[in-house]
Amino acid sequence: MPPSARRIKSPQQLIAESGADLEGHGLKRTMGLFQLVCFGIGAIVGTGIFVGLSDSVAEAGPAVVVSFVLAAVTCVFTAFSFAELGSAIPVSGSSYSFAYASLGERLAFLVGWCLLLEYGVSVSAVAVGWSQYLNELLDSLFGFQLPAALSAGPGDGGVVNLPAVIVILLAATLLVRGVRESARATAAMAVLKIGILILFCAIGFSAFEDGNLSPFATHGVAGVTAGASVAFFSYIGFDAITTAGEEVKNPRRTIPLAILICIGVVTLLYCAVALSAIGALGADAVADKPAALSLVVNQVTESTVGGGIIAFGAVVAIASVVLAVMYGQTRILMSMSRDGLVPRVFERISPKSATPVANTWIVACVFAVPAAFASLDVVVNLTTIGTLAIMAVVNIAVIALRRRDPGLPRSFRVPLYPLSPVLGVGFCCYLIWGTGWATWVQFAVFLVVGALVYALYGRRRSRLVTTPEAGAAAAAPRPGA
Ligand code: ALA
Repeated sequence: MPPSARRIKSPQQLIAESGADLEGHGLKRTMGLFQLVCFGIGAIVGTGIFVGLSDSVAEAGPAVVVSFVLAAVTCVFTAFSFAELGSAIPVSGSSYSFAYASLGERLAFLVGWCLLLEYGVSVSAVAVGWSQYLNELLDSLFGFQLPAALSAGPGDGGVVNLPAVIVILLAATLLVRGVRESARATAAMAVLKIGILILFCAIGFSAFEDGNLSPFATHGVAGVTAGASVAFFSYIGFDAITTAGEEVKNPRRTIPLAILICIGVVTLLYCAVALSAIGALGADAVADKPAALSLVVNQVTESTVGGGIIAFGAVVAIASVVLAVMYGQTRILMSMSRDGLVPRVFERISPKSATPVANTWIVACVFAVPAAFASLDVVVNLTTIGTLAIMAVVNIAVIALRRRDPGLPRSFRVPLYPLSPVLGVGFCCYLIWGTGWATWVQFAVFLVVGALVYALYGRRRSRLVTTPEAGAAAAAPRPGA
């Protein structure tokens, strides 16, 4: 099929559309590099390291550091692709907009659909993790925990997870008050969470013993692979940076730089945290333990004060992930709404606060439901596979856009093209393979439902205004339209 026959949107069209909004009631360009890096760290560091580390250690043993590096390598190749696309198409919408400009509307819709997993379902998953750490903190501070019936969903032995719902509603309240305040709050949280993890490393390394690292790869290569799929969750969120495209000053330079800084910083942090935890107590003492970081600190310091501080840090860190990820979801829905693929209510921006108020509350209410009732494992695995699928598409989108629009200005270009995006796709597929068949089946069902929604709603309502080159084909009557 020649390019002109595809339902595709040019990068220039995407940028022009966002520029038109900026002149009217659009978003304000308020974020610089520091704010953006903090925003990225706010989106990345959370449940994955505080809750998920013990699961990765259970799979890989001390070789979990290799798992973290494998997950990071997957993210780095994909980050290069995000950076190139973000520098070429600096608008809100992230991988959705990139897919629209390079692979066409149908795949863009499916990417947007999968973003409901990466962002929406992720909000639910992270909120459930927050709820667990809130209970840990209450225990450290006051010696009591909320009853399981009110702090876990039916899949995790409770009835309804009220704290998870509450943190989602609190995040929505902050977001509708405006990006400036939300970004400031996120920056403060990011600095605090880095400080807490550095404190943890200092305590862990003070009790470090070489012997705790051997045997190193307890469960062999298969364990390292499974550990990498689990560890990947702790990197999800770096691409949220690209969803802020319309609120960033000098986005062509700032976005790629912020993504690469974020990945580098969190990889160093995660490896240091894993090494210090295992070095202090050994892999068996960390594997599959709830609130493992608090446990390590309590044992090393022989007091519950340190564990309480870590629990406090986790509560703050995870809350900031809820905030940042929910922000990303609202901006993606805003982009899809502008395109007519989801109802118009999602694109409405309040003139008073310059934020998408209705959109934010709808997202909060919808994803509070799985947060209240779903099992943590299911929402985490779906988030992971949805994100990996999107990342594979983003790597493919780089190749497609280079072929389709080679002259488009790009302040950042992936190194070693096309090797980098090809390796990115390969690593994403490798980690998808590691998620297991039950998750593959759930994901396949989710995709089929998405394809039906596009066929029955999105395609008919699409506001795609085709460029002159694509106009002739797109103007032709569509079957079923
Ligand atoms: N990376 C995010 C977290 O670990 C999703 O909470």
